[in-house]
Amino acid sequence: MSIITLNNGVSIPQVGFGVFQIPPTDAQRMTEAALSAGYRHIDTAAGYQNEEGVGVGVIQSGLPRDEVFVTTKLWNADQGYEKALAAYETSRKKLGLDYIDLYLIHFPIPQKRLYQETWKALEKLYSEGAVRAIGVSNFKFPYLDRLLAGAEVVPAVHQIEVHPTYQQAELDALTRVHGIAVEAYSPLGRGADLTAPAIVEIAARVGATPAQVIMTWHLKRGRIVLPKSASVERLTENLRTDHIELTEADLMTIETLEAGLRTGEDIETFDIPA
Ligand code: A2P
Repeated sequence: MSIITLNNGVSIPQVGFGVFQIPPTDAQRMTEAALSAGYRHIDTAAGYQNEEGVGVGVIQSGLPRDEVFVTTKLWNADQGYEKALAAYETSRKKLGLDYIDLYLIHFPIPQKRLYQETWKALEKLYSEGAVRAIGVSNFKFPYLDRLLAGAEVVPAVHQIEVHPTYQQAELDALTRVHGIAVEAYSPLGRGADLTAPAIVEIAARVGATPAQVIMTWHLKRGRIVLPKSASVERLTENLRTDHIELTEADLMTIETLEAGLRTGEDIETFDIPA
């Protein structure tokens, strides 16, 4: 399992198990299954409403706490300094953990104009050692620039949607220029990119599955990758990519698949809960 060092020196396993859309009742079982398959990084969010199950799964796995990297995210309704501090504590308690490894602002929600204030709260949590690293998610230009302009702590990661048919190459580059690691969510295009003929062709040629080809592309390009699966067989497959060899030409072929096919919500029109 490959490890990346974040800009604050903290190590993060390059592949994490994403639990978006895993129902609360399945979260414990799937977290335990992922940890037992070899994952050491779980990515949840207050907005996924499954933090309790994830936390129980981490604890029940019997792994030492410092061997599992746990990320959660601040929900939109909790933007603002005091609300963010309270939301962190709520998430931490739901997870049943003493600390969280990585805490992210889930969406900028620019209409609220609170993300810089929210960031101050995350900086406080970080300076107090409550969290090992802080970052953001879905901060398109210019929100990332505005956040950086007022930030004392540069985000350690930026979690964005990246997959072959929606690569966000400019945002990826803007993120990395600042020394911020890119985390790819929906890395398989929610499954839709697995049937792209170019991916299927490369997979057949190198003796891998389409999912393993896309995983390898992300890893070779230096991204942290957060694949999801409800199946133990497939979540295991997505982690077993060490044996797969892709050439630079293969990676560039995958990059020709860019088609602007976003699968997630558009933050510009994202409905803001009260
Ligand atoms: P399933 O849960 O039935 O495995 P993403 O991580 O980009 O959001 O993609 C998740 C989607 O891709 C899910 O629908 C998941 O279905 C599917 N998926 C994940 N891993 C694989 C795989 N190895 N082979 C085929 N489909 C997969």
